[in-house]
Amino acid sequence: MAQRTPQERRLLDKAAQYLPGGNLGNLAFSDDLSFLVREGRGSHVWDVSGNEYVDWIMGSGPMLLGHAHPAVTEAVIKAVEQGSTFFATNEKAVLLAEELVKAVPCAEQVRFTTSGTDACFQAMRAARAYRGREKILKFEGGYHGTSDYAQMSVTPSAREEFPRSEANNAGIPQAIQDLMLIAPFNDLETTTAIIEAHHDELAGVIVEPLQRVLAPQPGFLKGLQEVTSLYGIALIFDEVVTSFRLAYGGAQEFYDVVPDMCSVGKIMGGGYPLAALLGAEEFMSVYDQSAVDTDSFVSQVGTLNGNPVACAAGLASLAELRKEGAYDRLREVGGRLRQALVDICNQHDVPVQMCGEDAIFDIFFIDRRVLNYRDTLLADSGMMARFNTGLLERGILKGGQKYYPSIVHTDEDLDKTIQAFEEVIPGLKN
Ligand SMILES: Cc1ncc(COP(=O)(O)O)c(C=O)c1O
Repeated sequence: MAQRTPQERRLLDKAAQYLPGGNLGNLAFSDDLSFLVREGRGSHVWDVSGNEYVDWIMGSGPMLLGHAHPAVTEAVIKAVEQGSTFFATNEKAVLLAEELVKAVPCAEQVRFTTSGTDACFQAMRAARAYRGREKILKFEGGYHGTSDYAQMSVTPSAREEFPRSEANNAGIPQAIQDLMLIAPFNDLETTTAIIEAHHDELAGVIVEPLQRVLAPQPGFLKGLQEVTSLYGIALIFDEVVTSFRLAYGGAQEFYDVVPDMCSVGKIMGGGYPLAALLGAEEFMSVYDQSAVDTDSFVSQVGTLNGNPVACAAGLASLAELRKEGAYDRLREVGGRLRQALVDICNQHDVPVQMCGEDAIFDIFFIDRRVLNYRDTLLADSGMMARFNTGLLERGILKGGQKYYPSIVHTDEDLDKTIQAFEEVIPGLKN
């Protein structure tokens, strides 16, 4: 168990006093495991007491190049010296928009936001504006940020009949519930039936092409593309996590299905507050101020949208990712870790299902296939909590739900993590 210095204890007390729940609303540990991050470099982070962790959270995805990557840091310092924000369109945002369009198959134009939440929210609004219809279909268990619309049926408690939605938390107007239709991920038949029944009121379908850690079944994304295109419904891929991770061109390149629009974030901002909505020009034209007097115009103003410092970080990050071998190393790191997890569970008769892809994955403790949110509920969540705690106690940091490999995790990091698996897994069934 990591030791805490008096200084970190004092800071933890202040966190408890000044932050609701003592945290930022993101990752939270029980009191005895709580710590405050002081710094990160490469694939490691240190807490205020100086304890070192191998980091498999990596900022919840953005830090594919590792913490404080020298090229990104240098680009940021240069950009900061040229001024932090202008509101007027800036040079770096234009250059990053050009790179995003080159990289992402569905992209012809770009609207920057400062969070993935906002990019997904804008995608849904743009779909409504373009189609002149009000409803959006999302998938049960899918996460698209914290807007009222996105917060429908993310982790529903009850088993509503599809397509009824359930608000995930308090403070969401009842009316929103009627505007969101819910379908089961990886179930093309049920989803198609819902779309067919509601096509004249559906503006868009939003989907994480790899939902949380659940990979799409062969034909699922292609089928969605066909049925949405048949009824003139916008298909939106939420690629906040998958863009520049599954491949340079994201899930749409990796799975070879191109949506009408997509949200991107995390990696493309290099660890700074940046995200974007990308899409075909016909959809993105709803943002064009020259159409201000039309019924389809969408105003999208944001003080920090396309912030030049964040765009500089994004440009530097993408330049690194275009280097030969970047994605090979990412997949090698993830592939080794996945194989070790499954092998060690099998050796100890611990029921396990590996989900996801080498670039993003996790296991479920269950002996049957996990294809959608309802399947995940059948897995042993207590075992998972004990597993993650056991890893943390051994200096291995991961979130509740995902491993985020990076291109800077070393073979020593892998060895240390696999050693922790060897120590924790045998005791999990007790
Ligand atoms: C798939 C997906 N969409 C949207 C978001 C929201 O992005 P942000 O946290 O930048 O608002 C996230 C965040 O983790 C995400 O995983």
